[in-house]
Amino acid sequence: MQRTLILLKPDAVQRRMMGRLVTRFEDKGLNFVAMKLMRVTPELAKQHYAEHIEKGWYPTLEAFITGGPVLAAVLEGLEAITVVRDMLGATSGLAAAPGTIRGDYSSSRQMNLVHGSDGPEAAEREIALYFQASELCDHTPTIVPWLRAADE
Ligand code: CDP
Ligand code: MG
Repeated sequence: MQRTLILLKPDAVQRRMMGRLVTRFEDKGLNFVAMKLMRVTPELAKQHYAEHIEKGWYPTLEAFITGGPVLAAVLEGLEAITVVRDMLGATSGLAAAPGTIRGDYSSSRQMNLVHGSDGPEAAEREIALYFQASELCDHTPTIVPWLRAADE
């Protein structure tokens, strides 16, 4: 079982897409274990996107991600990190395959609607950046036996 951080970015919130996107992750069988609407500060943006701070486009990314509320959430599921990244599609909405979230709803390299952690180390680091341990709500949904076999 894996956990991963997602952010419904400010474009998703402003475009009134939170419900549709949450439904999409729930329909896939992923389990929400934490969720909050919050504002990303410039300081948090620099920590989150530390690997990109030196890029020429970082200032516009920071302006975008701090420009409105985000919905931060932790998702749990088998291979959740890869499953979510595959659901998002390629970084640019122009390159992302139809059927993916970015491929279906984004025409931008920057305004690509949803962030997902890209590996186990990133997931652990990013979950700790956005959530206190006490905010993670451990639970096993009663529907689990109808989502996958017991030995999966
Ligand atoms: O989010 P993902 O891991 O797919 O992409 P990334 O290459 O790690 O970039 C992080 C985020 O920066 C992207 O999701 C875009 O929102 C933004 N970005 C940008 O504004 N301009 C670029 N040329 C590339 C990425
Ligand atoms: Mg990335």
